[in-house]
Amino acid sequence: MTDRRFSESFTWGVATSSYQIEGATNADGRGESIWDRFSADADNIEDQSTGEVACDHYNLWSRDLQIMSELGVNAYRFSVAWPRILPTGRGATEQRGLDFYSRLVDGLLDLNITPFVTLYHWDLPQILQDRGGWTARETAEAFVEYADIVSRHLGDRVKHWITHNEPWCISVLGHQTGEHAPGHKNTSEALATSHHLLLSHGWSVPVIRQNTTDAEVGIVLNLVPSEPASPSEADAKACREFEGAFNRWFLDPLYDRGYPEDIIALHHRNGDLESVELPFVQEGDLDAITAPTDFLGINYYSRAVLRSTEIPEQDNAERTVFTAPESEHTDMGWEVYPKGIQDLLEQVHRDYQPSKIYITENGCAYATGPDDNGAIQDDLRVDYFRGHLSACLDAIENGVPLVGYFAWSLLDNFEWAFGYTKRFGLVWVDYQTQERTPKASALWYKNVIANRSIPTP
Ligand code: FCB
Repeated sequence: MTDRRFSESFTWGVATSSYQIEGATNADGRGESIWDRFSADADNIEDQSTGEVACDHYNLWSRDLQIMSELGVNAYRFSVAWPRILPTGRGATEQRGLDFYSRLVDGLLDLNITPFVTLYHWDLPQILQDRGGWTARETAEAFVEYADIVSRHLGDRVKHWITHNEPWCISVLGHQTGEHAPGHKNTSEALATSHHLLLSHGWSVPVIRQNTTDAEVGIVLNLVPSEPASPSEADAKACREFEGAFNRWFLDPLYDRGYPEDIIALHHRNGDLESVELPFVQEGDLDAITAPTDFLGINYYSRAVLRSTEIPEQDNAERTVFTAPESEHTDMGWEVYPKGIQDLLEQVHRDYQPSKIYITENGCAYATGPDDNGAIQDDLRVDYFRGHLSACLDAIENGVPLVGYFAWSLLDNFEWAFGYTKRFGLVWVDYQTQERTPKASALWYKNVIANRSIPTP
């Protein structure tokens, strides 16, 4: 077997997000976010929990930096909580919020860990939600002001910026299925949301560049490689529709192709759009969205296999179902499919040619906890990472400009609508004591980083 290695310049990171780990939701003048409001309604969260305490990272951050340093990562992807910076969404800034992230950044740089800052990982100030949230164009304008403030304060030290995390989740889970904050169920709203997210991304890219010399700016999309369950034309169509709404709806406008016409037509047929004109798109918007970026961030967890349930005689038949084949599934019910990350990387590289790609999230939920000796032997997570990192190497060997990888997540944390019932961490968190214990997967990852290669099992 040849000794396959990642390049010396490869970025090795871990990722987190503000609402999932920080806690301290009332500290230092932080305003209310849509996730505080949403999780306060016990019906919305599986274990009736909230992010009020989470991993208490707001207080324990320096301990968490030590853990990262011991892991040997050279990068950390975290997000800034908008309501800590602008408690009322726009206008007055809260210096104590800026100071928190400034200390965090300094602490990272002291340890030679490069900060990758995500500006929006879902915790919108509630006050902006009250004025329409992402369905309102005003929120896109407010985002640019927020991006300006944060990049002006951190741009001397932070060189890697991500505007949004997963616009699909914000649009669809937040506004169409209602599983995420703000919990709405209206596809027209989801479409307007997706546009205002992309628009605010495009508007803020030049602003961030202005505030940061040598900035690398990008956006993070969750993408799903998709395939039909059979060679039938019906399944092929189901697959095109799923993949179009999930991936192309975001990739096409970002890479100068406008919104995909087949998906616009589909939404029109479904009654989500009155015509094939998109009512929320104004002149100049599509140009703004194509603002050149330096990288694309991809979050990959699983693939989709699509089977049509369309019955020609019945006009309103449900169109598609998700059918993952019989194989290993994580606690999220997501199929473990390492080859998918390679297929996806190669497909995005072929179809859109981003100059650089980072895997900004990849990981799995498994409940494995401390054994009698207190050790956490999460072998399934090790297998997951081994398979996916190896598939990343395959993609690199096939010419994909993949320059970094961020494991999701550093810590077990608040997994949105699932509360604390799903554990994605490399590091176990005891939520009673806030004690952190690196799992076997953390030690395994440390070894991979140190050797830049994947040990054979
Ligand atoms: C992604 C989110 C991240 C985390 C993982 C499991 O969709 O970006 O916050 O919840 O899924």
